Amino acid sequence: MVNIFNWIYTLLSRLLLSVLASGPIPKHVAFVMDGNRRFAKLRNRRVIEGHEQGFESLKNVLEVCLRLHIECVTIFVFSIENFSRPPEEVNGLMEMARGRFHELALQGQLLDRYSVRVNIIGNVSLLPEDVQKSVREMEELTRHNTRCILNVCMPYTSRDEITTSIRTTVASDVDPSLITPTLLTSNLPSNLLGSPPLDILIRTSGVKRLSDFLLWQCSQSTQIYFVQPFWPEFGMWEMSKILLSWQRGRWFGGQGSTREKEELEDEEVDEKSELLGR
Ligand code: FPP
Ligand code: MG
Repeated sequence: MVNIFNWIYTLLSRLLLSVLASGPIPKHVAFVMDGNRRFAKLRNRRVIEGHEQGFESLKNVLEVCLRLHIECVTIFVFSIENFSRPPEEVNGLMEMARGRFHELALQGQLLDRYSVRVNIIGNVSLLPEDVQKSVREMEELTRHNTRCILNVCMPYTSRDEITTSIRTTVASDVDPSLITPTLLTSNLPSNLLGSPPLDILIRTSGVKRLSDFLLWQCSQSTQIYFVQPFWPEFGMWEMSKILLSWQRGRWFGGQGSTREKEELEDEEVDEKSELLGR
């Protein structure tokens, strides 16, 4: 009986993915994987079990993105602010980064199978030394992969990333009049491997805030989705609903449509005229 359910589930998911794949596919999707602790607490489980379930969701959702040939995925794994959480929780997350997360980059595992290149973004020096080594090793192990970029934000805040970009720019001795948004964008650590513009940002758990994540990258044509399920509950069906909504927007004059692109171009012209005092 269980086998029949598995078979139907696999068939339906294949069908759903092929329907989605027949429409436009976003190039870059980002996730704020929120709600792990509330998920655990509501079930009288330990906080770390919530994060463990969150890790399972991450693998599932990543696989959906990879099967749809999304070129770049950015995940908010650990905020710089998260260091102020109880040591037991912080240690648990570090343990996961060192262990099961690292394993994803090994031969035959998810990142290898789908040729995903890992890019760690954030103030890595704040991590324990063995975790620094482990995440750098993930970058090294996946260096030759070409099908998708996985930006892992850990430990990250957007303002810290923007500060890094400004520091890099100033250190290059560039004439201040030549500092442009394009130059600052190219010096963002998240742009190291040439991430495409961010099409979709998803935050789970009903919280409607960006919490210092990708503030610079969300500036223009990013569609932001705040959805109710906790991250451990988020899977292929929720992801498909979002992608269908984004595709509908592309077809019918919403986000990313030709009409919207023309409007954005007009906005840019207006902004430039304003800068020039016209
Ligand atoms: C936010 O939920 C989640 C995190 C701070 C951790 C995200 C980590 C994972 C999804 C697992 C993958 C882990 C690694 C190390 C690769 P929350 O803790 O803020 O939950 P709450 O909003 O219910 O309090
Ligand atoms: Mg939270």
